[in-house]
Amino acid sequence: MGSLDEGWPEPVVCVQSLSDSGKLSIPDRYIKPQPERPSLSVNDMNIPIIDFNGLVTSPEATMKQISKACREWGFFQLVNHGVRTDLVDGVRETWREFFHEPMEVKQKYANSPKTYEGFGSRLGTEKDAILDWNDYYYLHYRPPCNTKWPDQPPSLREVMEEYTSEILRLGAALLKVFSVNLGLKEDSFQRAFGGNDFGACLRANFYPKCPQPDLTLGLSSHSDPGGMAILLPDEQVCGLQVRKDDQWVTIKPEPHAIIVNIGDQIQVLSNAIYKSVEHRVVVNPNKERVSLAYFYNPKSDMLIQPISELVTSNKPALYLPMTFEEYRGFIRTKGPQGKFQVESLKSPR
Ligand code: OGA
Ligand code: NI
Repeated sequence: MGSLDEGWPEPVVCVQSLSDSGKLSIPDRYIKPQPERPSLSVNDMNIPIIDFNGLVTSPEATMKQISKACREWGFFQLVNHGVRTDLVDGVRETWREFFHEPMEVKQKYANSPKTYEGFGSRLGTEKDAILDWNDYYYLHYRPPCNTKWPDQPPSLREVMEEYTSEILRLGAALLKVFSVNLGLKEDSFQRAFGGNDFGACLRANFYPKCPQPDLTLGLSSHSDPGGMAILLPDEQVCGLQVRKDDQWVTIKPEPHAIIVNIGDQIQVLSNAIYKSVEHRVVVNPNKERVSLAYFYNPKSDMLIQPISELVTSNKPALYLPMTFEEYRGFIRTKGPQGKFQVESLKSPR
């Protein structure tokens, strides 16, 4: 078993270079066991679509829609979210350019499992693990730190700073909505996240074309370990699937929509009223896909446990307290593993 201090257990192979090699079969390391392979999704369901401007025009109904989405799906799409459409398109295309930079440029930012910051092609440090078909770039942004920005393309940092401030504004607004919807004071979640010291980090995901998309996944099933994820999907290429009961539902993104999902820390803080739901990404033989996942997280040393107002004699605390730092060490070593981790935090009865 690998440890975070030792680096990767094997040489890391960039998935884009496998895709570019033109080979018609993928290496065995990417072939998933039969039950994990993507099956044809036959349903035409979609996650709830929420008009964020409704918070101004019909607040009560919109708050209710968000509440229902958090309880039943753990996922929703936001339209009219106020982030300029040229900015969302621009930031996605800037990252696409980065992933198309020559290998020598990307290699300069090669990451290690200790913090994951930089360019990488695997999650988890277990030797001989079966890998996912993606490359990514991981950035830490908050609490204020020395962010590892790529310097190519030159516009990336500026576009990202603007996009980030919009996402953080949206994240703070959503935390207020979640608090009020649960009957808590407006600032309850933000305080539980460490107030102004909350965390924010980005994973820019790149899923290259894949010659055998039926055998592998772009990202294995997982729930997000942090507070919530604010995801900019690729509008042209579907791929993100969400578990609903025992089916996989493929998200059909609305133009310029931003997808929001509840992470494990909000599931714990809400004492499981809100659900952090499993999701995964399937890949495509003809089209690459780019997505930006912004994670809005608690400060790393915050002890996370069900908020006291949500613990009653009828509904005792379902989870044991744990700091966020300790919690996220799990996915950093094990990689994406369904919902195993938050389940394992359940307090014994
Ligand atoms: C993630 C994630 C989904 C996507 O990065 O955690 O779930 O569409 N990404 O890339
Ligand atoms: Ni995710």
